[in-house]
Amino acid sequence: MNYFEYRNGEMFAEGVRVADIAEKVGTPFYLYSTASLAHQFNQFKEAFGDVDLLICYAVKANTNQAVIKTLAELGAGADVVSEGEMRRALKAGVPAEKIVYSGVAKTVSEMTFALNQGIYQFNVESEPELYQLSSIAAELGKTADITFRVNPDVDAKTHAKISTGKSENKFGVPWKSIRELCTRAAALPGIKLVGLDLHIGSQITELDPFEAAFTRISGLVETLREDGHDISRIDLGGGLGIPYEGDDFPPLPREYAEMVTRVTEHLNCKIIIEPGRFLVGNAGILVSKVVYVKKGEEREFLIIDAAMNDLVRPSMYDAYHGIVPVVESSEESVLYDVVGPVCETGDTFATNRLITPMKSGDLLAIRSVGAYGAVMSSTYNTRPLIPEVLVKKNDFAVVRPRPTYDEIIGLDQLAPWLSE
Ligand code: LLP
Repeated sequence: MNYFEYRNGEMFAEGVRVADIAEKVGTPFYLYSTASLAHQFNQFKEAFGDVDLLICYAVKANTNQAVIKTLAELGAGADVVSEGEMRRALKAGVPAEKIVYSGVAKTVSEMTFALNQGIYQFNVESEPELYQLSSIAAELGKTADITFRVNPDVDAKTHAKISTGKSENKFGVPWKSIRELCTRAAALPGIKLVGLDLHIGSQITELDPFEAAFTRISGLVETLREDGHDISRIDLGGGLGIPYEGDDFPPLPREYAEMVTRVTEHLNCKIIIEPGRFLVGNAGILVSKVVYVKKGEEREFLIIDAAMNDLVRPSMYDAYHGIVPVVESSEESVLYDVVGPVCETGDTFATNRLITPMKSGDLLAIRSVGAYGAVMSSTYNTRPLIPEVLVKKNDFAVVRPRPTYDEIIGLDQLAPWLSE
């Protein structure tokens, strides 16, 4: 469902005119819809029916606390990959016993923090990490519930930079070594092996790679049980894709859940999933203003006030994002290259894109940027991070304000020999 709809030719976010927010907040800014977040979350929840399920929102997709809290209030736990993310999740009201900790290189201080908070589970990715966690937990007199992240050697058929389940990727433990590692884990203090975990990649638009990976992990659960391990949880990671306009429609949560149930039901395990993009991706747009329309020799450029530092996905992954005017026009569309003001050719949001004629000062919306948008932004070119705004019905609130120049520049300190 789309919560950014036109009414009488003007784009609304739920019940609020997008142009009104732009006027109040200034451009560019990220804009999220509460109803969209809830709709996406509930789709997953309903799809799994009465399966014993914990949905751990992969907060890396969008760490704004207002977004995390909106999902937490609906019952979401969190998947975190750093102490910073865990602190945010806790602050946004996710209880520690609903937080799972993923990531290839958890440090001593991160493990200590998570153990002291009473985290639900560590997804362990290597043998050295296992020994490290065991020794810290034993020292603290605690027991860490762990899963091993299995590298199932499956091709997720997605962009190479976001594919994580092949044997050449740095993630997880090769599936062939899992059995041996579990035997070693069983003998360690401070550790309780409770399950297996995997995450094969992101923006996956077919069920087959998931099914191949989940079948492999189910087989491993059976083998481990035969070996005498008490396996009660399977964490299936995230990765379900979303439509980016122009993409084929990815599988629906209902289809995904049916497949998961078919492959894992007989094991009677608690199922954990870690969706990120699916929950927040289509719940956000980036609103930007046209600064100049520039006629090049070959192309016409819409130079907008957002740039690659605000949304890096097009330049980093050649990602496609829909770009639409905030005020509709009946004029015939023309071809534009939509670019930002940063001094790099990679600062391009779209090439040869059909958009109705625009002029300086007009507003544009870049669609489907709720996931991996604001979180991947930077202050390159000393451009302040852009605000994030959350809409709920007829209300909106700035949930991260635009920093001042003094705040950004003030972060630097001169070395003593450079001070006056
Ligand atoms: N669990 C783990 C262990 C992960 O590493 C990730 C994402 C997720 C869950 C959530 O995956 P999702 O449901 O969002 O696909 N920056 C890239 C995406 C990187 C994904 C990294 N891992 C992009 O903009 O496409």
